[in-house]
Amino acid sequence: MSKTEKIFDKAKNEIQNLWNNNNELSNFVKFPDNLILKHIKSKVAPVTNKLFNWKENLNTNHKDLHLAISDLSPYVNWEQGYEEKEVGKNFLSKYGFFELIGPTGHYETSEMALYVNFLDQNAYYPWHNHEAEELYFIVSGKAKFECKDQNIEILSSTKTRLHKSFQPHAITTIENQVLSFVIWKNKFENISKMIRG
Ligand SMILES: [Fe+2]
Repeated sequence: MSKTEKIFDKAKNEIQNLWNNNNELSNFVKFPDNLILKHIKSKVAPVTNKLFNWKENLNTNHKDLHLAISDLSPYVNWEQGYEEKEVGKNFLSKYGFFELIGPTGHYETSEMALYVNFLDQNAYYPWHNHEAEELYFIVSGKAKFECKDQNIEILSSTKTRLHKSFQPHAITTIENQVLSFVIWKNKFENISKMIRG
């Protein structure tokens, strides 16, 4: 196993471990068996180094998991999902995600998708929605979650939040950055869209 493969393997094992110990995750979707690492070229985003350098002040219950994901940061295919004209330059300097597991992920499967999401401090992820039902899991840090027909909630490590199909939601950070998993279990082909005000 190469050095890079070992880094991916460590992250996958930490996530599998998390699934085995967390009913909210395992009840939402089964963790796929026999995930094989594909070769996907890495691509950086403005937040790549922020996540890579985030090794202290973690605000987490999952230190080993956080560090395994942080170590992955330079080797993954970072995406932003939105155009500057939709969300603005400031948001795009603070936001990025990568599909670690999923139909087009580093670990390919059609059973689910797990996106690793990083949002820097003092950021506002505007109202958006998508067909896929989605579970957020906070690895570390903190953020305010708003969603239509649900209470506003400040989420920190280990907390989850379910977004139903097409239920609009928005996320705000203040003094904390936040690292989360965003898990989709179907309808991956239909991407997330901003809601025009
Ligand atoms: Fe979402």
